[in-house]
Amino acid sequence: MSTLQERVQGLRAEIERHNYAYYVLDQPSVPDAEYDRLLRELEGLENEHPELRSPDSPTQRVGAEPLDGFDEVRHRTPMLSLANAFSKDEVEAFHQRVLKGLETDHVDYVAEPKLDGVAISLRFEDGRLVQAATRGDGTTGEDVTSNVRTIRAIPLKLRRSGWPQSLEVRGEIYMPLKGFHAWNARARKQGVKELVNPRNAAAGSLRQLDSRITAQRPLAFYCYGAEAGDPLAESHYERLMQLRDWGFPVNPEVRRVRNASGCLDYYRAMEKKRENLGYDIDGVVFKVEMREQQQTLGFVSRAPRWALAQKFPAQEEITRLRAIDVRVGRTGALTPVARLEPVFVGGVTVTNATLHNIDEIRRKDVRIGDWVIVRRAGDVIPEVVRVIAERREGELEEFRMPSHCPDCGSMVEREEGEAVFRCTGGLVCPAQRVRSIKHFASRKAMDIEGLGDKLVDQLADTGLIHTVADLYTLDKDQVAGLERMGEKSAENLLRELERSKSPELGRFLYALGIREVGEVTAESLARHFGALDKVIEASVEALEDVMDVGPVVAGHVHAFFREDHNLEVLRALEDAGVRWQHVEPDTGAQPLAGQTWVLTGTLSMPRARAKSLLESLGARVTGSVSAKTDVLLAGEAAGSKLRKAESLGVRIMDEDGFSDLMESHGAV
Ligand code: IVH
Repeated sequence: MSTLQERVQGLRAEIERHNYAYYVLDQPSVPDAEYDRLLRELEGLENEHPELRSPDSPTQRVGAEPLDGFDEVRHRTPMLSLANAFSKDEVEAFHQRVLKGLETDHVDYVAEPKLDGVAISLRFEDGRLVQAATRGDGTTGEDVTSNVRTIRAIPLKLRRSGWPQSLEVRGEIYMPLKGFHAWNARARKQGVKELVNPRNAAAGSLRQLDSRITAQRPLAFYCYGAEAGDPLAESHYERLMQLRDWGFPVNPEVRRVRNASGCLDYYRAMEKKRENLGYDIDGVVFKVEMREQQQTLGFVSRAPRWALAQKFPAQEEITRLRAIDVRVGRTGALTPVARLEPVFVGGVTVTNATLHNIDEIRRKDVRIGDWVIVRRAGDVIPEVVRVIAERREGELEEFRMPSHCPDCGSMVEREEGEAVFRCTGGLVCPAQRVRSIKHFASRKAMDIEGLGDKLVDQLADTGLIHTVADLYTLDKDQVAGLERMGEKSAENLLRELERSKSPELGRFLYALGIREVGEVTAESLARHFGALDKVIEASVEALEDVMDVGPVVAGHVHAFFREDHNLEVLRALEDAGVRWQHVEPDTGAQPLAGQTWVLTGTLSMPRARAKSLLESLGARVTGSVSAKTDVLLAGEAAGSKLRKAESLGVRIMDEDGFSDLMESHGAV
């Protein structure tokens, strides 16, 4: 054999070993990049020396010339279906029939996940894949060999030895969820049609006349049975182990179980595992383990008496969308919720489903009155998967998000580039109020000792408080009247409330619970403005001048104080005697106040550090150079920003100049 031939065969053997490790053992043996490198090398050699090509080379997985149509294939033995069970009783009845048929008092079964994909029959002659056929009507299917040859989990050539000369393997081709979601994410980006669900995706992929298309789809395979001219193992389980040894992926969840109780335990275990399998299953299958027993039991019409599928309740159903309501979450986020005609799905009756956000509604084009597919998987919140467009009757109106909060009437805002709409009435909105009161009382905020989460819940539930301002109108009898509260603790709480009436401005601002305003930002706001009124009046631009405050936070602060409801609560707090302490504004130490800086190139200190030094001296640091830029700090290898600054006549400073400046202001 020439060395070239040896190399080609060596590469093929190595790639097949990696395939086996990856698809059958589920233990990748090399990084993807190394696998690709081997495959490319083999491809290169086969292209240079076409005489070395072989139909079962791992390079032959890319698809072939399109077909005009699929040939018919008559199955040597019919591809049967399974009897279904939907309850424990039906499983027990099945087991009783098996016991009776076998005249025994116990039976061993093999329990397997029931994959939700497409059944396939694979014929191997002399260890090579010669034909792949779909189930069709059970007697006659379609020849999809070229498509199946592109699926890497299916061996083109059997491993080891000992396999029968003629072998037919049956199993399920499916699309793993990861591949399905990745495919759809890409489709969405490219604006092309998405795959409807993993099962349809697998079926559609196999039905392509152009196998080069199938080759692109992320398909996988598990085998669940075999027939052969020569004898195979007498136990179904052992048979699966033989198939695994010859190179077929066998589902790692396959178990031997005993009697109906073993089957039912398996069902419950898989029900729990289902969400984490990484592929869809629609139930489990029980098969009498021993072949001899299977033969004794035989068949009824098209299904074996020795096997049973116990199905999970359907996870998807069709129903009608009656209305879209908007729910306000504890953070003020508005979520559109579909109100549905009640439908039994995923084992429960569903009347509501989430629509996530307005972008999803637009993307799926969901309108009130539409027929929709609802999905409820495990404990996951039911969701509207898609609209059945063909069933839409007449024109339906597009849904719009409300401009005001449905719970409190405050303005609704949407951040630039964000999918979420939010209610700005943080202090008054019933949906957010309990959360905002808990935050107000917390240690880093107003630090009201004794006012813990449970007590806030109680006060809100009994209607004694609606907003934080109501805390200061509580009297001793009201508090003492609550469950688990005595005179003494009521007195303590009122004393604490009294004490909290003169907070530092920073703490007070933090306590208001403005979105993205943490303690540090609240403190910066307090020091910059010195008084609450100034913060309230500040424009977005003025807010952006505050250290650490960017456009997003400035927007939140601004919106918060534009909301009348929030201002009313502030007035009520003031009326109740809350007096925040004014702070001497920090102007003296801000020699660079009013200046706008831009940083570019490589600096010897981290950029974030240079930025915070500048901000500590009052400068604003932005990302791009414009006519408004005062100084450009240019490090090593500065490029386009430097050129732009030069062309605009912006002052340019190098790092030495910057160090001197920082030193002169005592910043470093
Ligand atoms: S055994 C004679 N085992 O379910 C038994 N079928 O109605 C034939 N299926 O279309 C099937 N997972 O493709 C068997 N572990 C499994 C299965 C399975 C999925 C599919 C099969 C067939 C249908 C049976």
